Amino acid sequence: MDINIDIDKEIGVVGELLSQEQKTKGLLIHAFQKLQAEMNYLPEEALQALGRELNIPMSFVYSTASFYKQFYFNPRGKTIVKVCTGTACHVRGASEVLSELKDEFGVSEGETTEDLSMTLETVGCVGCCGLAPVATINEDVIGEIDDERINEIIRTVKEA
Ligand code: FES
Repeated sequence: MDINIDIDKEIGVVGELLSQEQKTKGLLIHAFQKLQAEMNYLPEEALQALGRELNIPMSFVYSTASFYKQFYFNPRGKTIVKVCTGTACHVRGASEVLSELKDEFGVSEGETTEDLSMTLETVGCVGCCGLAPVATINEDVIGEIDDERINEIIRTVKEA
C-alpha cells in the first residue's frame, strides 16, 4: 500500500517497530478523530477525500473506521444524551428515563433529532451506579434522575 506522506518521519524511531499497515491505521485514526471533532461525524465525502489524498484504498479506510465504535457515519446531535441501561440503572428506572426522552424528542435510541440538536443513546455503565438512574449530557453525568432531573435534561438540550 502506497501513501504520499512520510509516516516514518512523523513518528520517528517508534516507526521501526510497526508494520506499514499499523502505521497507516494510526494515521487514519488520527485523521478520523480530527475530522469527527470538526464535523461531528465522518461524512462519506470526507472519507473519500482522505483516501484519495493519502492514496489509501477506500476498503481499508472504511474497514478501519468501522472497526472502532468511537467513529460515526451519520450526523450526530449538538448534544449527546446517553441513558445508562446497566443493571443498577435498569433496576432503578432507566427504561422510564429513556422512554420520557424518546417521547419528548420524538427519536428512538441511537437516533438524532431532525434539527441535529440531540442524539439519544444508551450506554452499558458509566461507573456511577450509586447514583442510579444515571444519564450523561455530553461529558456531564446526571445522577438520581427523577421527574425534575428529566426536565433539567430536556431544558439543557433545548437551550444548548
Ligand atoms: S449501571 Fe448505570 S452507572 Fe452503573
